[in-house]
Amino acid sequence: MEILGIDIGGCGIKGARVDIDTGVLTTERYRILTPQPATPDAVAATVAKVVMHFKWKGPVGCAFPAVIKDGVAYSAANVDKSWIGANGQKLLSRRTKCPVHMLNDADAAGIAEMAFGAGKGRAGVVMMLTFGTGIGCALFLNGQLVPNTELGHLEIRGKEAERRAADRIRRKKALSWRKWAARVDEYLRKLEALFSPDLFIIGGGVSRKHAKFLPRLKTHAPVEAAQLLNNAGMIGAALAVKTGI
Ligand code: BGC
Repeated sequence: MEILGIDIGGCGIKGARVDIDTGVLTTERYRILTPQPATPDAVAATVAKVVMHFKWKGPVGCAFPAVIKDGVAYSAANVDKSWIGANGQKLLSRRTKCPVHMLNDADAAGIAEMAFGAGKGRAGVVMMLTFGTGIGCALFLNGQLVPNTELGHLEIRGKEAERRAADRIRRKKALSWRKWAARVDEYLRKLEALFSPDLFIIGGGVSRKHAKFLPRLKTHAPVEAAQLLNNAGMIGAALAVKTGI
């Protein structure tokens, strides 16, 4: 069965048809720049363009970088503040004329990794973290998601973790891999002290460069690189349409 998966990010909005039984994209992905300011209306209009590009008429899964409960956004760390309280799911369904299911972007990426990537078949407590503009988190117990964990906002040295260790900060401050890895390591060890996960999965665009930083991490739990890279959000969003998370 195919579903259209869409991943809304701070820079780009991308979509592809996803075979939800195999987790494989069945089309090229299509990407449009995120409108600025990324207000609910502007984002909805862009998502509608992505849907039109695929001439899609069926259900759509949509990953969004905020706390999402029953389609409503409850936070807006790296998106326009007017999202707070907006029912993104209703808005997007209206604009695209398709039934849209919306969920947090890291949760979507985690769902995809658990089904088809680094978390496949892994029981116990698995913590997926995405390093990009912010730090996203998806927490699983025996494959079951605890939605909307926002552990990128955990405080480290008096600052939100994502303001010290997101990939955006590495680039902005031109941190060496060694320096950035030390920040990530401090963060993971704090999470380990609090949650004792059995596995960490590191996702986001930077996971492609895992050889540069994974060997420098010193947690007890194994740390693995995500396998679905930038497609995880789209794949997980499509899967979530079926599971309803
Ligand atoms: C947001 C999360 C999101 C993460 C990754 C954080 O700033 O609070 O909801 O999952 O960024 O995009």
